[in-house]
Amino acid sequence: MISGSDYLQLLPKTELHCHFASTLTAPLFIELAAKYGVELWADNADELFAFDDLADFLVAFRAAHDVLREPDDFARVAREGVRHAVAAGNLRYREYFINPQYFAARGLSYADVIDPLIAGLRQAERDYGVGFRVVVAINRQESPESAVELVRQVVAHGAPEVVGIGQDDLTPEGTEDPTRFVAAYRLAREHGLKLTAHVGETDNATPDAVREAIEVLECDRLDHGYRIMDDPSLVRLALTRGIAFTATPVSTTICSGWVLDPSHRIRAMIDAGLKVTLSTDDALFFRTDLGREYREGLTLLGVDMDAAKQIAINGIDAAFCSEDEKARMRAEFTAQFLALDTLRVA
Ligand code: ADE
Ligand code: ZN
Repeated sequence: MISGSDYLQLLPKTELHCHFASTLTAPLFIELAAKYGVELWADNADELFAFDDLADFLVAFRAAHDVLREPDDFARVAREGVRHAVAAGNLRYREYFINPQYFAARGLSYADVIDPLIAGLRQAERDYGVGFRVVVAINRQESPESAVELVRQVVAHGAPEVVGIGQDDLTPEGTEDPTRFVAAYRLAREHGLKLTAHVGETDNATPDAVREAIEVLECDRLDHGYRIMDDPSLVRLALTRGIAFTATPVSTTICSGWVLDPSHRIRAMIDAGLKVTLSTDDALFFRTDLGREYREGLTLLGVDMDAAKQIAINGIDAAFCSEDEKARMRAEFTAQFLALDTLRVA
């Protein structure tokens, strides 16, 4: 017999929304900062990982990229991050955001970042059986022209593991403003890349940003997207188009200040029948992990075990990998669900 908490912990999971730098473990982050003489903003975890809101967090998030410089740094983060996530929540497949423009500002080319990142994740796949894909995030701090140039680099480099384009950070005005990057998205779509975008994340965002990401950018999937619940016509639109959402309950609570309870928009999204998946977003910074997002997040939202299993399956349906890989994962997840269900009622 296992508890509900253990059941949620042991459920096989995908994660479609995590930023590579945020998969650093705290000890490795501190070790790499020391290696490069990067002065951190605090010397204890309580202050190092305490943020007032999204904008406050983003200052630390940008700075953290400074500790990733050599190929071995990327390889270590990849392997340790996967090992940690398997132990913390039975991770089986993951999609990573990487923001090459943060690294370009530090003298690393697109290939300097992507090649060791993929080599490290391939090794982690061999070691732990966790498949992966990469989504390149457009840095919203930068210009629309630079985003088009970034998509050109993605296409020219041509790594098969890089399957999509997203956007992260905020514009210099502190907004989401997804349509600013419409030309980059059009180019990416023309080259067969999948599309997603961080929109509708906090009270500073708008439901209109969610609409623009669906109607103007033609996204396949949305990151966060919670403000969709402020406009019922948008819910109908997302249902019609089969748009999936990567929700991050514990992480978002820290960024938004919203209380994680059954009145939360994520619960309303699930009840409305939207295809919700669960991720950590920024596990290092928000001191969360995939197990915690399910155990604590779903419990506080008042979501039952059948809905939890559906959320895990949604994470396969919404993935940007091949149909063959999805079929394999569905078979594996279904078998593990059966075994867990037996333990639950025994
Ligand atoms: N970069 C990393 N995490 C992010 C988030 N939650 N929103 C926007 N940009 C991010
Ligand atoms: Zn994110």
